[in-house]
Amino acid sequence: MVRTRIIGTGRYLPDKILTNEDLEQLVDTSDAWIRQRTGIAQRHVADEGVGSSDLGAVAAERAIESAGIDPTEVDLVICSTMTSDYLFPSSACLIQHKVGAKRAAAFDLNAACSGFVYSLSLADSLIRAGAHRTVLIVGTDLMTNRLSWEKRDTAVLFGDGAGAVVVRAEEGDRGVLATYLGADGGSYDLLYLPAGGSKQVIRYDNIDGLDLGIVMEGRDLFKKAIFAFGDAALKALAMTEMTVEDVDLMVPHQANIRIIYSVAERLGIPKERIFLNIDRFANTVAATIPIALDDAVEQGKIREGDVVLLVAFGAGLTWGSAMLRW
Ligand code: ACO
Repeated sequence: MVRTRIIGTGRYLPDKILTNEDLEQLVDTSDAWIRQRTGIAQRHVADEGVGSSDLGAVAAERAIESAGIDPTEVDLVICSTMTSDYLFPSSACLIQHKVGAKRAAAFDLNAACSGFVYSLSLADSLIRAGAHRTVLIVGTDLMTNRLSWEKRDTAVLFGDGAGAVVVRAEEGDRGVLATYLGADGGSYDLLYLPAGGSKQVIRYDNIDGLDLGIVMEGRDLFKKAIFAFGDAALKALAMTEMTVEDVDLMVPHQANIRIIYSVAERLGIPKERIFLNIDRFANTVAATIPIALDDAVEQGKIREGDVVLLVAFGAGLTWGSAMLRW
């Protein structure tokens, strides 16, 4: 049986680090508040002029190297981002060029923080349908240059970064076992960026009247996240006829440690079997899960044959899960 197997992982975080103590100098907040409410201690911040494709290309090169393949073997690049370098063309095209994946088709997929799970699900369908064999999936987002540092509710949450995986059609029982996706566009306004798209175009003559900041209803999002995360995880378990006992490691989207622990309690999965790195990297949107996968592999927390459960939730609203045998 042909399955979609992750054969390489990579990540890239910009060098510059902004700690909670640094943030205390920019906005009315405290290290204690941020740690207690979110689990975040620091975040990486890209330099001015760097784009999400620049971060993504380095993560992609590392994933290709770890897969031990030539970039020309990649036949599709999916870049999961909500902060592409330009409105057009896609960051996927820029990454395709930067890594030398000359034979690959390329496009962006925007499902916000669920983008990596959406992309993996799509790649899995395309691979099992025989349309593609080797797919590079990049999750990359660069949020810090969109934040208003005076808006403390959002300023403390996000970081910049990229993660990537190479997936390939392989015979056997290792690989993607099931994926599940969901969305609720009726709640789009719980987290969105009003200006800069086609609805509120940024022009020289209207810029003073635009709200350029991110709009977020934190408490409502928090409640919906706990619900949707848990349901998505349960769906993946049901689809594979597994229980939490079968899961060696859960790798959740890293948005808030309290959301993750609430979901863990609901599922009955012990904290030791949940991978966390939100303290170091904060919420890097579509990048959190591929960064976490690379980090977990490096730390020896994922080994061949392990059952790994991915769960995500984000703006849209969107959510999803994936069950893998590594
Ligand atoms: N520093 C200090 N105080 C703050 C800060 C801050 N950065 N932000 C808010 N506060 C204050 C509020 O003003 C409020 O004060 P008040 O009681 O005097 O009015 C108090 O802290 C409590 O505010 P709440 O909004 O109730 O705080 P809450 O416990 O809900 O935590 C948070 C806020 C962290 C934003 C939380 O709601 C959350 O994480 N929501 C999910 C948001 C999220 O993850 N978004 C990312 C994308 S979606 C996703 O990835 C899942």
